Amino acid sequence: MGKILSVVGARPNFVKLAALHPVISKYFEHVIVHTGQHYDYELSATFFEELSIPEPDYYLGIGSGTHGYQVGEGVKLCERVLLREEPDFVIVYGDTNSTLAGAIASVKAGFKLAHVEAGLRCFDMSMPEEVNRVIVDRISTLLFAPTKGAVSNLKREGIIDGVRLVGDVHKDLLLRFKDSVRPPSSILEGVRPKDYVLVTIHRAENTEVGRNLSNLTEALLRISDFTEVVFPIHPRTERALSKLGMLGRLKEKVRMIKPLNYLSFIALLKYSSKVITDSGGVQREAYMLGVPCITVRERTEWRELAEAGWNILVGTDPDRIVTAVREFRPPLARPNLLGDGNASLKIVNVLKEELK
Ligand code: UD1
Repeated sequence: MGKILSVVGARPNFVKLAALHPVISKYFEHVIVHTGQHYDYELSATFFEELSIPEPDYYLGIGSGTHGYQVGEGVKLCERVLLREEPDFVIVYGDTNSTLAGAIASVKAGFKLAHVEAGLRCFDMSMPEEVNRVIVDRISTLLFAPTKGAVSNLKREGIIDGVRLVGDVHKDLLLRFKDSVRPPSSILEGVRPKDYVLVTIHRAENTEVGRNLSNLTEALLRISDFTEVVFPIHPRTERALSKLGMLGRLKEKVRMIKPLNYLSFIALLKYSSKVITDSGGVQREAYMLGVPCITVRERTEWRELAEAGWNILVGTDPDRIVTAVREFRPPLARPNLLGDGNASLKIVNVLKEELK
């Protein structure tokens, strides 16, 4: 039995790990390293409990800080664990600072690296996630791409060896839990199916740029004049809104709630009339659930979903956002762009083959 070591640290990493862990642990010893980038119960522990991920074998406790601090501390502490565990393969997930830290530690210490969700590009290097994606893909041995577009992006960068098109691991997870989705009113009293807009905003370009955040606030206030708005709020967004003095105004008209665990979020998403988001995960979960997605960014790494007509990019202009909530109608067709829901099995089969 070979040994696989996964490095995770932030909410989107945990969701992908949840898809893979049951399959990895069937065939390999699976060591889980949590960098500690996310540490609040709502952003971390709840995902381990709810999605049956075992307690991490190592918790590195890096916490919040600058990007350089998070990556640097993550590399240093991951390296110690790697030298002790000597895994046959290291897996990193997505595009967070913990992903980059795990990847650099792994190649610098001479371990083979696999990247789950390789090849995604939004072609905007001012986004920290894009920098992380590009670097991690450049140094990975195995690159598990979720879409054909991701494979093409890698090819354009000259990366061909080790690339495997496997589909989206989020689809695996959604299929696994689809029968456990409860009605939204059991999560949030009084909400009626298809009678509210769900909102998630946490990207640095939206929360750290005052003008963008005030535009978004204005849009949400205007939308709340004609439909209910439900907004599970990330701690960084809450802090930024409070600093700008806009939290109180929003709370008067919008249902602001704590960040949700996976199943509660999926339930609220499934029964929303539309979702407004800047998250990558939510864009495809919306697509899989057939919810029109209004993305408050200028670019997306999930271009295919926009091309299929289910995701509209509106940036942060309040007029564009409000118009999209009123008028955006996706077509009837929703082609399968995210694989067959067996991405985890395909990934593990490749690893088995590699380690034979
Ligand atoms: C990170 C990822 C982003 C992902 C997001 C999901 C990077 C570069 N970004 O962004 O891609 O979409 O996670 O949530 O890795 N904070 C808390 N409690 C926590 C964690 C964070 O209060 O448990 C606050 C802190 O003030 C912190 C801020 O949120 O400074 C930002 O956290 P950080 O981990 O730096 O990035 P995210 O914005 O969460």
